[in-house]
Amino acid sequence: SQKWVLMVTAQTPTNIAVIKYWGKRDEKLILPVNDSISVTLDPGHLCTTTTVSVSPAFTHDRMWLNGQEISLAGGRFQTCLREIRSRACDVHDKEKGIKINKKDWDGLHVHIASFNNFPTAAGLASSAAGFACLVFALGKLMNVKEDQSQLSAIARQGSGSACRSLYGGFVKWIMGKDDKGTDSLAVQLADEKHWDELVIIIAVVSSRQKETSSTTGMRDTVETSLLLQHRAKEVVPKRILKMEEAIRNRDFTSFAQLTCTDSNQFHAVCLDTCPPIFYMNDTSHRIISLVEKWNCSEGTPQVAYTFDAGPNAVMIARDRKTATLLLQKLLYTFPPNSDADLNSFVLGDKSILK
Ligand code: PMV
Repeated sequence: SQKWVLMVTAQTPTNIAVIKYWGKRDEKLILPVNDSISVTLDPGHLCTTTTVSVSPAFTHDRMWLNGQEISLAGGRFQTCLREIRSRACDVHDKEKGIKINKKDWDGLHVHIASFNNFPTAAGLASSAAGFACLVFALGKLMNVKEDQSQLSAIARQGSGSACRSLYGGFVKWIMGKDDKGTDSLAVQLADEKHWDELVIIIAVVSSRQKETSSTTGMRDTVETSLLLQHRAKEVVPKRILKMEEAIRNRDFTSFAQLTCTDSNQFHAVCLDTCPPIFYMNDTSHRIISLVEKWNCSEGTPQVAYTFDAGPNAVMIARDRKTATLLLQKLLYTFPPNSDADLNSFVLGDKSILK
C-alpha cells in the first residue's frame, strides 16, 4: 500500500569549540588544517530538532528548515543524504507491518523537517547541531549500522563542526591524514558527567546573521594568512595536548587560559586575512575586558570566554556560584533596556534569561 509513513525524530545540541577549527585543506570533503576540541551543550537548549520520514507516497526528497522549504539540489544536505542512503539496511517495523529491503531505499524519498531553537547562522554554530541531527536521524531511519565516529565523518561533510555534535561531553575532531577523509572524524574525550560543575553562559550580543560565512572566511584565510600556517603547524598541535590534559584533570586554570588564548588567536587569524574579517564587535571586546579584569583580580581564572564566527560571547564558568556572579556582573555592565546591544543570555544548561 502507498499509505504508510515511517518517521524518526532526533534532537541534537550544538557544540562550542575551545580549540578552534578554522581553515580547510580540502574544501569539498571538509578536511581541516588542524585538530579541534569542543564541548557539547546539554540537550534541550541551543539545539536542533529534526524529523525525517519516508513513504512510498513521496515523489522526491524535500527539506524544510524552520518551516521554510529549502532546495536540496547539489548542496551539503544532499551529500549527507547520499552518504547515509548508500549505507541503508533492511528495516522491518513489525508493529506497523512495514518492510523495507536494503535495495528498496534507492527508490524511496524522504521528507526532512528541521527546527533550531536559536538564531541560525549568527555564530552560534547552528549548522553544527543541524547536520549532526540530520545524519543521526537519517541513520536511525535507514537502520545504518555505522558507529558514532563513522557517522561523524558523514556529518563533517555537511559542516565541519557538526562532526563534534555526534557526541556529548568533550569531543576532539581529529584532522586525519588521508586525502579521502575517512580518518577525519570525531572521538569523545570525556563524557557529559566528567566535568559537570562547569556552567556555560552565552551572551547573545546580536542575533543578526553573520556577514562573512565560515566557508568564505576560511577560504580567504587559507589563501592569505601566514599566521594561520604558523597556528596550524606550530601552535595547535601542542595546545591540543595541553587541552586534553586540562580536561582529563579538570584543571580549570589551564582550561580557561587555553580556551581564551585560542579564541583570541582565531580572531587574530581573521584579522590577518585579506580582506580582514571582523566577527567580534565593541560589546564582544567589552565582555573580554570584563572577564580578563575579573580573572586577574581573583588571581586565578573564574570564567573562560570564547567567540566563534560572530559577536556572541560564550562564557564557561568554573561552577554555579561563579556563573551567578558572572551574570550579575554582566547585567550591571549591560543593564537591560540600555543602549548596549546585548539582548539576552542563554544558560547552556539551564533556561533562557531575557
Ligand atoms: O563548521 P563551520 O563551517 O560552521 O565552522 C565553524 C568554525 C568555528 O565555529 C568558528 C570554530 C569551530 O571550531 O567550531
